[in-house]
Amino acid sequence: AGSVELDLSAIGEGESVVIKWRGKPVFVRHRTAAEIAQAKADDKAVLVDPETDEARITAGREKWLVVMGVCTHLGCVPLGSRSGDDKGEFGGWYCPCHGSHYDTSGRIRKGPAPTNLEVPGAITFLSDTKIKIG
Ligand code: FES
Repeated sequence: AGSVELDLSAIGEGESVVIKWRGKPVFVRHRTAAEIAQAKADDKAVLVDPETDEARITAGREKWLVVMGVCTHLGCVPLGSRSGDDKGEFGGWYCPCHGSHYDTSGRIRKGPAPTNLEVPGAITFLSDTKIKIG
């Protein structure tokens, strides 16, 4: 129980969607080549919660970033998944509650949040265009 499937084919490059899983929002982002390159380059940056981009994506599926849409500070839902949203200073997500900025790998880069946006443990690619969470 508690798994959810998502059709990825309707999510254009550079777009994100927000789905619900176990009562919480999950962000699914179709990253652009530039966003992937930035995320990999920032593996070498000074990170609050050091993690490589590679460790946060499914091998061979680097276009797709799947993270919990829950700010690790006090649990607000960060902005950045809807067109026109403020994506913050690092181009990922921005939490307006107290000003946490996340990068294109969902890593915390600035502000009070202590850890990166959580990657759900159970992500399965059922095909090139379908994933299952949980
Ligand atoms: Fe997101 Fe405080 S809850 S910055």
